[in-house]
Amino acid sequence: MNTAVIAHLALLASAFLFVSGIKQLSSPATARAGNARASLAMLVAVVVTLLENQVLNWPSVAGAVLLGALAGGFLARTIRMTAMPQLVAVFNGLGGGASAAVAGAEFMRLGGGAVAVGDGATIVLGTLIGAVTLSGSFVAFGKLQGIVTGAAVTYPLQKTANAVLFAGILVAGAALAAGDPNPQMYVALAGAALVLGVLLVLPIGGADMPVVVSLLNSYSGLAAAATGFVLGNMILIIAGALVGASGLILTQLMCKAMNRSLANVAFGAFGAAADTATRVEAGRRPVRDVDAEQAAMVLAYAGSVVVVPGYGLAVAQAQHELKKVCDLLDERGVTVRFGIHPVAGRMPGHMNVLLAESDVPYDRLLDLDEVNPEFDGTDVVLVVGANDVVNPAARDPQSAIAGMPILDVDRARTVIVMKRSLSAGFAGIDNDLFYRENTMMFFGDARQAMSDLAREVREA
Ligand code: TAP
Repeated sequence: MNTAVIAHLALLASAFLFVSGIKQLSSPATARAGNARASLAMLVAVVVTLLENQVLNWPSVAGAVLLGALAGGFLARTIRMTAMPQLVAVFNGLGGGASAAVAGAEFMRLGGGAVAVGDGATIVLGTLIGAVTLSGSFVAFGKLQGIVTGAAVTYPLQKTANAVLFAGILVAGAALAAGDPNPQMYVALAGAALVLGVLLVLPIGGADMPVVVSLLNSYSGLAAAATGFVLGNMILIIAGALVGASGLILTQLMCKAMNRSLANVAFGAFGAAADTATRVEAGRRPVRDVDAEQAAMVLAYAGSVVVVPGYGLAVAQAQHELKKVCDLLDERGVTVRFGIHPVAGRMPGHMNVLLAESDVPYDRLLDLDEVNPEFDGTDVVLVVGANDVVNPAARDPQSAIAGMPILDVDRARTVIVMKRSLSAGFAGIDNDLFYRENTMMFFGDARQAMSDLAREVREA
């Protein structure tokens, strides 16, 4: 077998590893293995591509892989779980930037003579999508990190200005794609695409950034696929298309779980209202509040408990204390399970990751469709730092969250809600659940409150 055939077979194996790795990411039980498999696919693709093109020799390939692995490993180990969206934003941005840089280098290489129409079009696409992804992702990073304002930045004629800029980019792109090798026009196109990325993300509220990051993830894949066409590199096209498609599917799933359209996320300035949470009527109606001892009594003498975690659990980092409470209830013979909403928290899989950190068995986690029919027969639901995902207002057609699928916790016999106050969550609206007859409010920071609860359950 000659080396070209071996290289093709290796790339085919790499494509298979990418696809099956992504498939494994769909379940928490296989996600780690999926990650390892996709990393192996990337290693094979990089090594084969470099060797095939005789770009580098073995020591330099090994050196580059080692350097990348050390930087990636360090970041992955040191980053806080709540900062994961920022890390992904930076990764996307760098991916988009790399694609734009490769497209630019190819344009320069072909420069001087006329560029064939097909080559020109892919170079323009790689540059445009890559540059928008680069600058847009760094604005998203800034918003998530609090460096850039989390408020939706809006000004008069904003959409018109963006449309004009985009039209200009299209005109320049069409000229370049048609074979005009004008370097000034190319630089202007790349610069305008960078500005467009900033302008598209600025008007979106900080709390909506996870959806934007997922969309930009999809863009980074498209940019990579376009670069694959520029270079005639099949595995880059396959990997880019996979990232593009999976990012888009994830974006759609997130929008669906919030019952919002992508256009509403992009242009609705929704997160801005939530940042100030001004619409809540907190404190106007009486609630029944309980302390740790009372909550422990209710939980310890229940037959079945469903825990519903939300963003507040992540903020308080209360997952280990929660696990202790669940273990104590287990020992008393209480059946404890977890109801997981697809957009609880601020990033996909947020709750699954938190609970996995504290070794909650995967088979205890029920998703929305599995757990909703169970609430009617559940004795106690313990809501920990969740708000919107359990808000019955979603059933009211007049509500801002009308139609959003929710966990029907109000159908359980008793609901204990653990949070610091009656403040609103991400959507910025009051939650009728807090005032219901079968609801008890257990006020406090989730970590402290959960630790008090563990002590009281132990003594119950
Ligand atoms: P939220 O509705 O945002 O509510 C979280 C609650 O946690 C707040 O009301 C807050 O109340 C409480 N909290 C904050 N810090 C706490 C602490 N230290 N201890 C105890 N409680 C604390 O959260 P959710 O129910 O998880 O819903 C998620 C929301 O985010 C949805 O609206 C969803 O659409 C949106 N969203 C999700 C995603 C993804 S992918 N997950 C992406 C974008 C947007 P207090 O201040 O009173 O404590």
